[in-house]
Amino acid sequence: MKLLAILAFAYATYAFPAASRSKLTETLNERRTLNDLRIRQSDSDPVAVVDGLTQIPDDDHPFMAPGPTDQRGPCPGLNALANHGYLPRNGIVTQADIVSGTAAGFNMGGDLSEFLALIGIAYDGDLITEKFSIGGPDSRTSLLGSLQNILGVEGGLDHHGPFEADASATRDDAFFGDDHTMQPNLYAQMKSIAAQYGGLYNLDAMKDLQLLRYQQSIEMNPTFYFMPVSGPLIVGAKAFISEFFSNGTYGAGGVPNEASISAFFGAELLPNGSFTAVPERFPDNWYRRGTPFGLVEAIGQILDFISSKNLAFGANAGAVNSFVPLDLAAATNVNGLACIIRDAIQGNIPSSVEQPIDLVEQAISSLVGLVDPLFDDFGCPAFNASETQAYNAINQINSGNS
Ligand code: HEM
Ligand SMILES: *[C@@H]1O[C@H](CO)[C@@H](O)[C@H](O)[C@H]1NC(C)=O
Ligand SMILES: *[C@@H]1O[C@H](CO)[C@@H](O)[C@H](O)[C@H]1NC(C)=O
Ligand SMILES: *[C@@H]1O[C@H](CO)[C@@H](O)[C@H](O)[C@H]1NC(C)=O
Repeated sequence: MKLLAILAFAYATYAFPAASRSKLTETLNERRTLNDLRIRQSDSDPVAVVDGLTQIPDDDHPFMAPGPTDQRGPCPGLNALANHGYLPRNGIVTQADIVSGTAAGFNMGGDLSEFLALIGIAYDGDLITEKFSIGGPDSRTSLLGSLQNILGVEGGLDHHGPFEADASATRDDAFFGDDHTMQPNLYAQMKSIAAQYGGLYNLDAMKDLQLLRYQQSIEMNPTFYFMPVSGPLIVGAKAFISEFFSNGTYGAGGVPNEASISAFFGAELLPNGSFTAVPERFPDNWYRRGTPFGLVEAIGQILDFISSKNLAFGANAGAVNSFVPLDLAAATNVNGLACIIRDAIQGNIPSSVEQPIDLVEQAISSLVGLVDPLFDDFGCPAFNASETQAYNAINQINSGNS
């Protein structure tokens, strides 16, 4: 309860300016209308329109299963990229690797990939080398190599915290142990929802899935936590399934079909009808989306998911079905939600400091400096130092130092 009280304070004292509809919000709405007009395929006979699109992978990026020391983790997108060499095959990555790899493989917008990579570095990686592991902790991320273990462990994306979240599509909540391996029964559950939409993993299906996983976490996970930063991001990851894994451009003739989705999730169908986990890969005969999907689109989708399914932010208070909602009143438009996410990130960098303090101070201010410009167009108010203090208090409580 103490944690929630502080969070409530942090947001209650935070006044957003009257919702200014930025040009970006308008652009987003225009694009949506355009996309609606372009959807021509019927659910019963969906044939992807891929004219002019790029087939992925190219000859330089063949599939190779990861070796024993290669890191793979909770993100099927990054795992697939690494299995094809669009990211370093060892799974130890820099921001530059992420930006170029996600653009080449999936046409992810540079602002979105920079943003996600920054979170990976700040929460799960090394502030100084700016490397993180896309799986478990790994001394190769650290400037100090194995010496780092004395100072503290950089968790990698497997690390449950500000990034890895509860209510994933195909991964169990960290409370149940393994938060990063694809669970065949969860894949089958997702598939059964897609079946209600003609077998398509479209946005409506993914919204139903998000609501179901949210309810399951409330009912089964006493530690369920759904707050910025990780909460909105786990919602965004559901939209990624339709938007990035679709064969062709989603909303413009693309089809998020079983062949595509199962390959990306590494879900192999066995003769008896159940699934087993295999390394993620690009499907055969697959075409990357033609238009970039960036930060504005991602935050727009997150807001759409949250509002259409009434997903309240909050957390279970140590028991199942004890959800305490927290009213983030400002999360009603794209700009408001964007600013909440930005502030939560800045207030939280880094979640644990385990490195020489002078180097870290420099690294933090340079990271915070990199986050701000990404959010320029959302018209966020200047970052409020009192919030930093609130978040610092939260971090202390989280790490048992209070
Ligand atoms: C750009 C850098 C990226 C980073 C740092 C990143 C990181 C992550 C992390 C930490 C998770 C775990 C969330 C959780 O289960 O709690 C995740 C999940 C996910 N990511 Fe990524 N990701 C990135 C890019 C992508 C891309 C390009 C795609 C798709 C092409 C993608 C698709 C997904 C999906 C679908 C999930 C959800 C898996 C599930 O819930 O079963 N991600 N990502
Ligand atoms: C920062 O927060 C304090 C309350 O903690 C509030 O009085 C002040 O107006 C806020 N400043 C800005 C710029 O939002
Ligand atoms: C993608 O669409 C193209 C064109 O319709 C088709 O030939 C190809 O088989 C599809 N690939 C997948 C994985 O469904
Ligand atoms: C399906 O087959 C696999 C592999 O042979 C086996 O491990 C699994 O238990 C079977 N599942 C069911 C429901 O029979």
